[in-house]
Amino acid sequence: MDHSLTLDDGREVTIRTATECDAFGVLVLIDAVARERVYLLNTEAYWGVEGQREWIRALHRTGGTMLVTEAPEGALVAWADLARTNVALTRHTATLGTGVRAGWRDAGLGRALLQEITRAARELGIEKLELHVRSTNARAIHVYESLGWQHEGVGLRAYKQDGMYEDRVQMGLWLGLA
Ligand SMILES: CC(C)(COP(=O)(O)OP(=O)(O)OC[C@H]1O[C@@H](n2cnc3c(N)ncnc32)[C@H](O)[C@@H]1OP(=O)(O)O)[C@@H](O)C(=O)NCCC(=O)NCCS
Repeated sequence: MDHSLTLDDGREVTIRTATECDAFGVLVLIDAVARERVYLLNTEAYWGVEGQREWIRALHRTGGTMLVTEAPEGALVAWADLARTNVALTRHTATLGTGVRAGWRDAGLGRALLQEITRAARELGIEKLELHVRSTNARAIHVYESLGWQHEGVGLRAYKQDGMYEDRVQMGLWLGLA
């Protein structure tokens, strides 16, 4: 169901579930964030439109989901996805991926989108959310912490870019009852 949101800067956006028809828009969005080189683990969306379409299909097929945020003129400016696998012992978990396009950050969108996808996770019966984030990504870590995510571990020098090492911060959000 579409959900309208007024950002802190007054702009209006809509949050909704992504479909295969969003493949191109999502690809353009992720590619733009990836090319900034400082936030994601890829530096471009090399998988192309067909790869993106299959990714969205697979998310839904395996009991996960993707939400997108649409600006009034139709461009997608943020996404959040929950990826699940068929591995027996991790079926109760999902891995979160998310990003907001430059120019749309620091206006409350990321936090609102994460709250929305956490609601979706509960509806899907997911008990635990997990994510990996680059240790240099202070804003993302701040937003996750503010929503109750816990630090669960660090992979030392897990990432390497342009000859420089970075740590991988693992975080988790327990949604279960116990
Ligand atoms: C991380 C991200 C999803 C957050 O979304 P957003 O819309 O910018 O976030 P919000 O506006 O909801 O909140 C931003 C918060 O970060 C804070 N912040 C901004 N820059 C910061 C920094 N350098 N260090 C710490 N906190 C920072 C803001 O003050 C605000 O916190 P507050 O509301 O408690 O004052 C978004 O910035 C983004 O997509 N970044 C690039 C891609 C990315 O990092 N993806 C996640 C990969 S794991």
